[in-house]
Amino acid sequence: MKIGLITSGGDAPGMNACVRAVVRSAAQNGLEVIGFIRGYEGILDKDYTVLKNENVAQIIQRGGTILKTARSKRFYEREQRSLAAENLRSLGVDSLIAIGGDGTFTGADLLQKEHGFKVVGVPGTIDNDLFGTDYTIGYDTAINTVVEAVDKIRDTALSHDRIFVVEVMGRDAGFIALRSGLAVGAEAILVPETKTDMGRVLKRLEGRRKSKQSAIVVVAEGDEFGGAEDVAKAIREKYTDREVKVTKLGHIQRGGNPSAMDRVLAGFLGVGAVEAVVKGVSGVMVGMQHKNIVHVPLKNAIKHHQDVDDNLLRITEMLSV
Ligand code: F6P
Repeated sequence: MKIGLITSGGDAPGMNACVRAVVRSAAQNGLEVIGFIRGYEGILDKDYTVLKNENVAQIIQRGGTILKTARSKRFYEREQRSLAAENLRSLGVDSLIAIGGDGTFTGADLLQKEHGFKVVGVPGTIDNDLFGTDYTIGYDTAINTVVEAVDKIRDTALSHDRIFVVEVMGRDAGFIALRSGLAVGAEAILVPETKTDMGRVLKRLEGRRKSKQSAIVVVAEGDEFGGAEDVAKAIREKYTDREVKVTKLGHIQRGGNPSAMDRVLAGFLGVGAVEAVVKGVSGVMVGMQHKNIVHVPLKNAIKHHQDVDDNLLRITEMLSV
């Protein structure tokens, strides 16, 4: 039996640790692994490399992905997916393991539905926005990166009595903003999942204005009010005597050595994916719920975007006074 392996969509720290886990557990089960380069693009171009135990040595600690990744536009086309299925079969690949986020899973689901090709997804995205898994690979590292950066911003904000609006990643999801915002003690956190009441945000900063204190406002890039620049503008208009600075953390959040949490999660899910393949399971994402490996239909993982934890929202509100 031969497994095809891809990392696809936005890279996430811990993808390499997962590639290692897939390759090594497949070898233990007597299965071959072919790694396609740049996700679905590599399948379409038949650009691949055979992966053996020795090829995945010394990668557990490395950020990015040795297989490279891409957001394949071509894979949106039905004919291209036919070509992909044909290429996979001509190489003797029986099942595809796809490490990525919602775009990756959408493609995998279509490959299965249209061509009966066996697919197993592994949640790998810094956004943590997939339903059916407590965490996605890369999320823990990303929020730790944010915390480290904002702690530094806090030092200079305090020294100058400035307000900083910090924009973090999350086009459609506020999980990075919410959890890292709580961890840095942000005075306000703006996420796409809840309606932003700018009046309320400004009120929150009111006390700070009087005492000339610094403040940190964390905003997810996908917030409906706008990005960090828009939020800063609104604050400047109301509090004309305050200095308001903007920092966009950007792609720094996607890089770096994976945290211990992400490496361990990647190990569990990589092994879980191979075990699913061995059992003949297909069309599912392998996730982790309360320390248990679970199988969630790909379409549910994508469609039922994880709910924002109400308790987290409540605690954040309560503590950022
Ligand atoms: O999906 C992960 C993510 O980092 C999002 O948070 C962000 O909006 C997006 O990818 C950025 O993608 P790209 O690097 O392709 O611009």
